[in-house]
Amino acid sequence: MAQTVVSINHLQKFFGKFQALKDVTFDVNPGEVFGFIGPNGAGKSTTIRVLLGILKASGGQATIFNEDVWQQAVAIHNRIAYVPGDVYLWPNLTGGEMIDFLLKLNHQKRTAKTDELIQEFELDTKKKSRSYSKGNRQKVALIAALSTDADLYIFDEPTSGLDPLMEEVFQKHVLALKHQGKSVLLSSHILSEVERMCDRIGIIRAGEIVETGTLDQMRQLTRTQVVVQTKQELAGIETLAGVHTFKADEQIANKAVFAVNTAQIGAVMAELVKREIVTLQTTPPTLEDLFIRYYNTEGTEGHEK
Ligand SMILES: Nc1ncnc2c1ncn2[C@@H]1O[C@H](COP(=O)(O)OP(=O)(O)OP(=O)(O)O)[C@@H](O)[C@H]1O
Ligand SMILES: [Mg+2]
Repeated sequence: MAQTVVSINHLQKFFGKFQALKDVTFDVNPGEVFGFIGPNGAGKSTTIRVLLGILKASGGQATIFNEDVWQQAVAIHNRIAYVPGDVYLWPNLTGGEMIDFLLKLNHQKRTAKTDELIQEFELDTKKKSRSYSKGNRQKVALIAALSTDADLYIFDEPTSGLDPLMEEVFQKHVLALKHQGKSVLLSSHILSEVERMCDRIGIIRAGEIVETGTLDQMRQLTRTQVVVQTKQELAGIETLAGVHTFKADEQIANKAVFAVNTAQIGAVMAELVKREIVTLQTTPPTLEDLFIRYYNTEGTEGHEK
């Protein structure tokens, strides 16, 4: 039986009277890339800091490799690699020295893979860390983490300072880790990145997980957009279960635009077929639609895109 890599149950965290985490529950399975998304201040970094044993939880349980994250922090750290959202480096070390130092902290050595990563991320390793931009500081931490041989990789918004080409390099390496059977916990604001790489997604809002599942499962909860034209009249479609915002085209006969609950799409399609479909275009909800759906409900602390 494969063990769960990360297991979080009803995790809570108070900072004084303020409750940053109210109820965080999710698992990361072996060989899985788990996407952790949510607006600013939702509790992503706090959850990650609890996992790393930097913060002590106020309630609930969190384990990594079945070990308690607080009690066994040192042992767990030997098997994980971590990249924070804000990377701080020692200003007097060069990027290359910094990479070596970060590897050493994790009991690792520079390998051919490290050099390969330096090339791919196009990092000038001879410059002092103090002269690096945010993106370059992130590259230093990413190169060290990606060349670490770990079982679990935790990235907290790792690509916020990277340009799209570098983001692609990062994604390629994360997918390679996944193919090697490694597990990845990735918090991100870049929905296309999450959509492309993550097997499962957890959405956190105001310290609570509001949804967990695969993108397909989440899509079941929302509506697909349909543009259709039929030979026969569309009468009756708008009253079918699951059909919303039906709008007949004013110029073209038997053409309409509407939204349908993804769960009812089969039944609606069967009705359209009876009316002889001429053209049909369906657009599944994007992660962004899902995101906005959760963020627009009351009780949100802040709004992202
Ligand atoms: N050390 C702290 N002391 C007091 N409050 C804190 C502390 N760290 C975080 N918080 C609060 O806890 C909440 C969650 O913060 P957290 O950094 O986990 O959010 P996040 O989801 O990572 O946001 P972002 O997307 O902006 O990185 C916020 O309201 C934040 O102000
Ligand atoms: Mg954060």
